[in-house]
Amino acid sequence: MTTALPIVHPPILETRACTWADEAACAAFAQGLAVQAGITRAFIALHGPLGAGKTTFVRHLLHALGVQGRIKSPTYAVLEPHSLPDGSEVAHFDFYRFNDPREWEDAGLRDVFARPGLKLAEWPDQAAGVLPTPDLRLAIEPLDGDARQVSATAHTALGAGLLQALPA
Ligand SMILES: Nc1ncnc2c1ncn2[C@@H]1O[C@H](COP(=O)(O)OP(=O)(O)OP(=O)(O)O)[C@@H](O)[C@H]1O
Ligand SMILES: [Mg+2]
Repeated sequence: MTTALPIVHPPILETRACTWADEAACAAFAQGLAVQAGITRAFIALHGPLGAGKTTFVRHLLHALGVQGRIKSPTYAVLEPHSLPDGSEVAHFDFYRFNDPREWEDAGLRDVFARPGLKLAEWPDQAAGVLPTPDLRLAIEPLDGDARQVSATAHTALGAGLLQALPA
């Protein structure tokens, strides 16, 4: 008797690495992502130490998507909401000071993830127990001066589509 083997679909996990020589390269990378179909419903997790450039990347991405004016860092508020010219929602999180998972429910953060829209999360490890799997993870590591080593990993089909946009 033969036993049918279960079909196992491996998780989508694809990584690309690149270097940003300076902040202009960060802006160019953000502009490349901004024109991709699917970006306005993606969840992007941003890893990297203090001052790596997570908020700077978000500012360039949101400006490229048409957000006008100052984009505040959500360090104190945990969530800074924005809206795009087409009316879609953007949620920019910074979980650096997030230490009480009850806040996830109380501040309505779960509801934000239940709605469509672009989500960007700095310090996602601080909320690892409650955050869903991101479509794309960006890890930004400072090198000398303004240079940054960037590794982008797709965890979903949507994220894999966004990765195609990035320089090989
Ligand atoms: N290649 C680069 N990419 C991004 N930012 C850069 C780059 N080179 C220099 N910078 C500068 O580095 C700083 C990054 O600060 P930013 O607030 O974006 O860091 P962060 O990762 O959000 O830190 P935090 O964890 O404190 O929120 C900014 O002043 C930015 O102008
Ligand atoms: Mg920041």
